[in-house]
Amino acid sequence: MGRGNDELWYKDAVFYELYVRAFCDSDDDGKGDFQGLIRKLDYVQELGVDCIWLLPIYASPLRDDGYDVADFYSLHPDYGTLQDFQALLAEAHRRGLRIVTDLVMNHTSDQHPWFVESRSSKTSPKRDYYVWSATDHKYRDARIIFLDTEESNWAYDRISGEYYWHRFFSHQPDLNLDNPAVQQAMLDVMAYWLDMGIDGFRADAVPYLYEREGTNCENLPETHAYLKRVRRFLDQRYKGRVLLAEANQWPEDVRSYFGAGDEFHMAFHFPVMPRLYLALKRQDRSPIVEIMKRTPAIPESCQWCTFLRNHDELTLEMVTPQERAFMWDAYAPQPEMRLNLGIRRRLAPLLDNDRRKIELLNSMLFTLPGSPVIYYGDEIGMGDNVALPDRNGVRTPMQWSDEPYAGFCDQAVPSTYTPVIDDPAYGYRRVNVEAQARDGGSLLNLMRHLIRCRKQHQALGCGSCEFLESANRTVLTHLRCHGGEDILVLHNLSAATQSVTLDLQDWAGVVPIDIPSGSTFPPISGRVYELKLAPYQYLWLLLEGPPR
Ligand code: GLC
Repeated sequence: MGRGNDELWYKDAVFYELYVRAFCDSDDDGKGDFQGLIRKLDYVQELGVDCIWLLPIYASPLRDDGYDVADFYSLHPDYGTLQDFQALLAEAHRRGLRIVTDLVMNHTSDQHPWFVESRSSKTSPKRDYYVWSATDHKYRDARIIFLDTEESNWAYDRISGEYYWHRFFSHQPDLNLDNPAVQQAMLDVMAYWLDMGIDGFRADAVPYLYEREGTNCENLPETHAYLKRVRRFLDQRYKGRVLLAEANQWPEDVRSYFGAGDEFHMAFHFPVMPRLYLALKRQDRSPIVEIMKRTPAIPESCQWCTFLRNHDELTLEMVTPQERAFMWDAYAPQPEMRLNLGIRRRLAPLLDNDRRKIELLNSMLFTLPGSPVIYYGDEIGMGDNVALPDRNGVRTPMQWSDEPYAGFCDQAVPSTYTPVIDDPAYGYRRVNVEAQARDGGSLLNLMRHLIRCRKQHQALGCGSCEFLESANRTVLTHLRCHGGEDILVLHNLSAATQSVTLDLQDWAGVVPIDIPSGSTFPPISGRVYELKLAPYQYLWLLLEGPPR
């Protein structure tokens, strides 16, 4: 039940995040490209998603996989030409797929001509494009994000003899958004890509746009004022396009990025993500219910984005130190699996490659409030490679077939940008699209099915959500309602059979039907309804019956 041209299309869309470099190589240089992605659009369409989110595609030295932009107006030559990109947009749109790209407003690469000019001298006309200081003493209350690589948010520049500010790698100087020329420059960048026809942006690292002494330099009023200007600009000229915020913050702080429906349309729900894993390991729904209850309501035109994994480490910034220690012990037993405040593993290995747990978490993703984002490869249960540095181990080539290089590129290519996963459990010979497409019972086919089910029921996309109390905390039970459609969702977080007793008298006479399996359940009668769930079982019960 797609929303087609509806301006609110994103409210019940399913997103697919992919890295062009990792997806499909059409010109046999060992690196994925736009033409390769075009070849695979039918696959993406068949998965049933509505919108592709592309990791940065711009010119870049790739020291942070493109989040270090060297030119906002040109594409990375490895990915193809502007014509190739335009062809990708046209081919995606022809299939009813939208495309959003990354917008990095907070910083650039140190190779960006603005920075090259800025650092050339203290009097350079572009000096004020970045944040300079004679000392490294300012903004001491700002935390360091890349803890494993950076010791300070200041880096000394020998060329001009001052320090520049950077919240991420030291080769990524922060732009000075206090400078009106920079503010305008980012609007110009947006206009260029929106005019080309992209459907919106995933805006990178937005909490850090401004710096003010005496604050932690996150979520500042100046940041929100600028972001509202960005939104006004979008609304004036590009209705129907979307802005999605990457703000790794507590729910009450992320809430402000929606404004009064006049800032971002969407924002990732970072805090709920680790709690899905936490609840599973503890066999207790409480972490999920507590964080969802702590999540403020958002304006009608806005929506959350939920996800299980992405291209970064599984961040543990939005949990308590105790929860973080528990998560590290439970999910990253080896030190090389940890990175900064997170875990650099993919979904399937995190869940012991246990199909029941993989399905369970995906079912939560598809039924909790918010538009789900699937990270490429997780739909087939791809593995990771912790021997690769930084986050590279979760950015390996997509596994299309059991041919050499997983069908990602031609067999004659001397090497790929990073090795294809080739271990006994997750290697491409075993885990690949071709084999799973043939197998009716595969994870891929299940994912397609769950997405289809979700789309047939708008309550799962934009319905209200209420968590039901029941004595048994191993079962997460929530109710999604929209336009007269009620769906009762249950997840058994434990490895044992569980029963729950619910008060469903409002639905007396109804025969619940599990949407994914089509099975019917005994009619609801009286005060007490008892359900038994097999280990890790999930149910999406449609409560349709005589009018209430
Ligand atoms: C965001 C991106 C991450 C990148 C960082 C710096 O957090 O998700 O991949 O390294 O910003 O741009």
